[in-house]
This record gives sequence, C-alpha cells and structure tokens, in this order.
Amino acid sequence: MSAIDLLNLFIRELELCKVKPGEVMAVLTGPQTRSDYAEAFVAAGQRLGAEVFRLDLPTPVQSWAATPTTAQGALWGLTPLTGHRSGIEILKRAGILIDLVGLLHSPEQIEIQKAGTRVLMVVEPPDILARMLARGDTRERVEAGGRRLARSSQLRITSKAGTDITYQLGQYSRKPILQYGYTDEPGRWDHFPGAFVYTWPNEAQSSGTIVLHEGDIIFPFKEFVRSDIHITVRDGFITSIEGGFDATHLRYFLDAWNDPDAFAMAHVGWGLDEMALWNGISLINKETAIGQDGRAFYGNVLWSTGPNTDVGGTRTTPAHLDIAMKGASLYLDGEPMVQDGEVVPADMRLTKR
Ligand SMILES: [Fe+2]
Repeated sequence: MSAIDLLNLFIRELELCKVKPGEVMAVLTGPQTRSDYAEAFVAAGQRLGAEVFRLDLPTPVQSWAATPTTAQGALWGLTPLTGHRSGIEILKRAGILIDLVGLLHSPEQIEIQKAGTRVLMVVEPPDILARMLARGDTRERVEAGGRRLARSSQLRITSKAGTDITYQLGQYSRKPILQYGYTDEPGRWDHFPGAFVYTWPNEAQSSGTIVLHEGDIIFPFKEFVRSDIHITVRDGFITSIEGGFDATHLRYFLDAWNDPDAFAMAHVGWGLDEMALWNGISLINKETAIGQDGRAFYGNVLWSTGPNTDVGGTRTTPAHLDIAMKGASLYLDGEPMVQDGEVVPADMRLTKR
C-alpha cells in the first residue's frame, strides 16, 4: 500500500473515531512500532485538525526474562508503558490515543480509559486494515450482540466434536466488550479492525468440556488445530488437556508460565465480521500480524484464558490464549447466537446488504 493510500485509510479510520479539529490526539509508539504507521497517523490526525503529539517509549529497563516469550501477541499487559508514570499522565490528557504499542490487558490502559481518553489499538498490516475497515451495519450488529450478553446469566458452548461447557454470567457481563473497529465515545477502547463481542464469566463459575477440532485456531500460535484436544474445565480453570501432539503443544505452553492463572477461563464471545477470513492465518506474516481474521470471522466462537483486569478482575497474568472455534454453537440462556458456525439472531445477521 502506498504512503498516500495508508494516509487516506487512517484519515477514514479517524473520521469513524470522530476526531475533531482542536482535539488532542496522542500516538503512542515503541521499539516494535511500524514507523510508517506512526507517521501516517500523525499526518492523518493533523489533516483532521487535531492537536497531535507522538510519544515514543524505549524498551523498558526492567527484565521480562521471567516470561517464556515476548513474541508478538504472546505477552500481554507488560508494555513499554508499564510503570511509566509520566507517560501515563501525558496520555490521559489526550481525547484519543492511537495505541501502536499494544496496551491491551494492561492496568495502564485501564487507567487511561478511566480518565476519559478513548483508545484505538492498531497492529495489523495495511491489507488487513483496508479489508476489514468498519462498514455499513457492523456496529449495529455488534451492539445487538452486546445487549443480549448484558442481560444473560448463562452462556453455553457446544460442538459436534463433543464440546459442552457452561459459563455463568453476571459478575462482569453487564458491560460486555464490543469490538467494531473504531471508537468515538470517551473512555472507550477498540481495536482496528474486527467485529466481535464478548464478556468475562463469573469467577470460578465455568465448567465442562471443550473439544478443539481440526480447523479451530489457537492464538498466539496463529496455528490451526489439526487433531482433537480434550480440555476439561472445573470451577473456572482448565484442569486437564488431553490428546495428541496438539494437546501436548498447548499444555506445554501453558505450563511454561508457571502461573496457575494462565489456566483460568477468560473472555468468551463470538465473531461477527464477514470480511474476516477464517483461513487468514495461512496468509499472514506471523511476525507482523496479530490475527484479527481468526479472532473475528463471522460465526466463530471465541474463548480465552488468563487475565480479567479489563473488567475489574484481579488476574494480571500476561499469559493469554485466544481460541477460535469454527462450526461451533453458542447459546445465551438457551437461545442460539451461533449455531454450527452460523449467526442466528436477525439483528446480528448479515441481512442488510
Ligand atoms: Fe483475547
């Protein structure tokens, strides 16, 4: 994508975010940030009349050696902004923060949001950003999902491979996390791009069996499951992972953190993005893409493990899996949201195009 096309894409995105003349817009960058993104966002903000500044943070001095990986998308909550008080205070003064570092699941991001700053995370390469740019009724369909999550007390996932797990909701689910790829409300976080909806279950109140099947996707590996993985969940934690190579691989990763909270059940929801590709991980450079295709594709069922500080919980573990199931079913209080991979409710389906 040319520099001009990238600039135009970011202008369009910032227009969706309702960036206004005179508004303070911060662009946060770090050692791994794409310089073309930093430059294009600064220029796009200026085109819209915003008062733009860029805060570029160095690699932290403190060691992250205790974590088994710092790979892209595999370490969450520890960032160049971790413990950086002056940086946090400066960013809280912005109306909008363009996060090119990846603050997701960090207490610093929560603090900045609470100050009223809306936060937009951007990681994906240009072709994915352009393909999945929010469109038409994306937001309405995601918000429809959010309303249903907010009033539900039980979420159940099943699959033909043998999955049957139930999550109790209510402790954190009255304000579900909506992702539609832009943010135009004070204090609201989103990630450009992707459309999906999710929440966190009650502490210690998810139990059942998950059977991952070929074609499901495990992040941060950015790999398809190719053989069944039988996962047992009791009282909110994974208690066993059985199967062949894929199970051994998954169990090894979780064990490596030496942290019981790595096994905790975290956010759970479903994908609503018809422009996201189930097989996107086959087409990306793993070093430079985070995998929004797999996380958001229309009709997926997405569950995760690890932190829950995003919604006020106390688990700060940097270990975080996102697991996308293809062809599964998800029910809220017995009503299907996704059935065998198809979105069911009319207000979430692609009916308006
Ligand atoms: Fe996640």
